[in-house]
This record gives sequence, structure tokens and C-alpha cells, in this order.
Amino acid sequence: MTGDGGANGWLLETRRLTKRFGGLVAVDDLPLAVRPGEVRGLIGPNGSGKTTTVNLLSGLYRADAGEIRLSGERIDRLRPHEITARGVARTFQTPKLFGSMSVLENVLLPALTGPARGAPRPIGEVRARARRLLELVTLDGHRHAPAKELSGGQSMLLQIARGLMVHPIRLFLMDEPFAGVHPTIKDTIMETILRMNRTEGVTFLIVSHEMAILRRLCRRVSVMHEGRLIAEGSFEEVANHAVVLEAYLGR
Ligand SMILES: Nc1ncnc2c1ncn2[C@@H]1O[C@H](COP(=O)(O)OP(=O)(O)O)[C@@H](O)[C@H]1O
Ligand SMILES: [Mg+2]
Repeated sequence: MTGDGGANGWLLETRRLTKRFGGLVAVDDLPLAVRPGEVRGLIGPNGSGKTTTVNLLSGLYRADAGEIRLSGERIDRLRPHEITARGVARTFQTPKLFGSMSVLENVLLPALTGPARGAPRPIGEVRARARRLLELVTLDGHRHAPAKELSGGQSMLLQIARGLMVHPIRLFLMDEPFAGVHPTIKDTIMETILRMNRTEGVTFLIVSHEMAILRRLCRRVSVMHEGRLIAEGSFEEVANHAVVLEAYLGR
């Protein structure tokens, strides 16, 4: 999506982003910069600060220092729903769904109750998009089932469909979307990411340990270690970094 970047061309840019938990610096002076239309991977050993970063970017945590900019606009003091209203969606590692509501209702709910910027969308349009997205993630046949009946992988697909209802969606933050998910569903998630990236120009930041998948999805990967950004580049460039070799490839 050209024209969606800030003055210096980034859709998402953090500067000196820092989050402490007591004496622990979970995110340490992090500079992260993502271009509009990118599919960026974010990797690093357990405890390196990836989830904390996603929680900062989505407004769940308040940064202790530093800045977060979306298309140049500071968003680091905004609340989660205000960040969502600027076109940022996210998934959680542990799905947060309304278990007794139907699959379709889970997808519709944020669009119908959430804060929208600008004119409200016609309900017919919202429902049509919900159905299209459920079809895309192969859940349309389950749309009347209570969400609690879905498998873990299907729940992730539902979180993804729900995130894509953010209007207009610009940046999708995904925290371990492939973890503990059946290979067929991994393929569906991958296809959904690529499709939304190509057709709607959605930018993705994907936290994952699945190196084979990231190699296929991401042109660039950022590597965190102990809260810091220690490497960034193509998959091949970062794959030879000592921390990556040790954490992912067992060498
Ligand atoms: N809410 C919290 N309270 C205290 N410590 C936390 C909290 N969330 C994360 N941490 C700590 O911050 C560090 C980074 O955690 P996290 O961002 O979850 O890492 P990752 O997602 O890369 O595995 C870890 O040492 C973790 O124990
Ligand atoms: Mg994590």
C-alpha cells in the first residue's frame, strides 16, 4: 500500500522502545521498522521479548520509554481500541473468543460494537465480509457452531478472520499463529496471510518459531535476544546468526 508510510516511508516504526517488569528489561531500546506491504518475521529464543513487543504495539502494555509510530503518528499513548481503530489487528497465542457465541458472531462482534473511524459501515457489507473471511479460513461451514467447539487450530483461524474485520485493516500482528496447529491449518493460515497481503496490501508482523514457514512468507526477519534487536535481514542472512543457530537449529 503506497502512501501508507510515514514521512520516512515506514508503516510501523519504534524508537528506543522499552518495557521493564521490575528489574527485568523485557524490551530494551528496540528499533523496529516495517514497510507498508511487508510480511515481517519476528523471531528469538523464548523470553526474548517478542510477546511483550506485540503487547506494546497493540496498546495492551504501556511503554516505559520510547516511541511507537504508525504512518508517522505516535500511538504509544493510545488505548488498545484506539489502536485497533487505526487499522491494527492482532491475534493472541491463547485465543480470546466468546465460547458460547457462534463462530459468525465472534467475527461480527468487533465490527458491530467496536469503535469505527468515520461513517458506520452498512450491516450488509459487514456481514458479507464476515462470510467471505470465514470462507477464506475454511470455517464458513462452522459459522453457526459455538466457538468453544472449535479445535485450537480452528480457534486461531477464527481469531485471524476476526482480526481481518478491522476496517480498514493495515497492520496485522500475529503472536505464534502456527504453534500447536495441524499442518493443514498451517497451510490455510499461510495462504490467508499471503492472500490478504497481495489483495489488500495488509502488512504483517509475525512472531513464530516455524523457520520453514517464515522462509516462505517473509522477505525480512528481525531477531530479538534478551529484549534487544540483534539481527535483521533476509531469512538466509539471519539464519547464520549464532543466536538463531542455537535457538532454532540446535547447533
Ligand atoms: N506480565 C509480565 N510480568 C512480568 N514479567 C513478564 C511479563 N510478561 C513477560 N515477562 C517477562 O519478560 C520477558 C520476555 O517475555 P516475552 O515477551 O513473553 O518473551 P517471548 O514472547 O519472546 O517468549 C521474559 O523474561 C518474561 O518472563
Ligand atoms: Mg511469546
